[in-house]
Amino acid sequence: MLLDGKAVAASIRSEIADATSEFIATRGVTPKLAAVLVGENPASQVYVRNKQRACDAAGIGSDLHRLTADCGESELLRLVTTLNHDPSVHGILVQLPLPDSIQSQRILQAIDPNKDVDAFHPENVGRLVQGKPRFVPCTPQGIQQLLIRQKIETSGRRVVVIGRSDIVGKPIACMLGNRGVGGDATVTLCHSRTINLNAIARQAEILIVAIGRPQFVGADMVKPGAVVIDVGIHRTDEGLVGDVDFDAVAPLASAITPVPGGVGPLTVAMLLQNTLRAAQLANSE
Ligand code: GUN
Repeated sequence: MLLDGKAVAASIRSEIADATSEFIATRGVTPKLAAVLVGENPASQVYVRNKQRACDAAGIGSDLHRLTADCGESELLRLVTTLNHDPSVHGILVQLPLPDSIQSQRILQAIDPNKDVDAFHPENVGRLVQGKPRFVPCTPQGIQQLLIRQKIETSGRRVVVIGRSDIVGKPIACMLGNRGVGGDATVTLCHSRTINLNAIARQAEILIVAIGRPQFVGADMVKPGAVVIDVGIHRTDEGLVGDVDFDAVAPLASAITPVPGGVGPLTVAMLLQNTLRAAQLANSE
């Protein structure tokens, strides 16, 4: 079975559009995202444009703040502080990666945790780890929603995550191991130092791959009948490919996400969800 992230994202986006128009009608406030783009990274420009278009389609406002790659940490921090204090801004997103001259952690820590729609601020990371999230990071939340909505049981099942990034690997491992719907799994987090990776991956009933290497996972790493979630996206001469060798793995898997059209569209949908939630938190009685 192909796990059609695009279709699931479309239904989530329409739910969010309805909830947004109800919020605007009852509160008289339009949720707004402030996106910050530093430099000219072509992929980042595409991602930010997609996020703004999705906001627009859901009735959520969005502003784009562009800084040059040589802007320096203090100028970026000044912008973040201005956005923190702007009551018309509910969500702040600083697109990553940032130029090497800027320490990302310093920027992410400066974002008001109540406006941190990426959920990268240490306070929000801590809350997630404790099972009491304010915001849930977008890509892991998209994966979890895909599993829930496609009725793929996680409780008690063996999940292997390949890749330990702060953006995907670590939070999804944590969320699937937390209590509750879409959780309660037995999770193994693998990375570049893992010994016997193939054998461990083959134990997975649900395999989540976020390692950032094109077509890294082949048929020898997948248990027949496994559910395979591919978070990677790479532009190659043959077109877009994921971290999974789709043609080799798809015949083995009981369900698999395509690239593109799998996890990517869900990430954008979850950003809208978090922006609406930020506006609700700021305007609750
Ligand atoms: N770069 C890659 N993924 C993400 C994400 O989820 N948020 C931000 N801000 N930057 C990213």
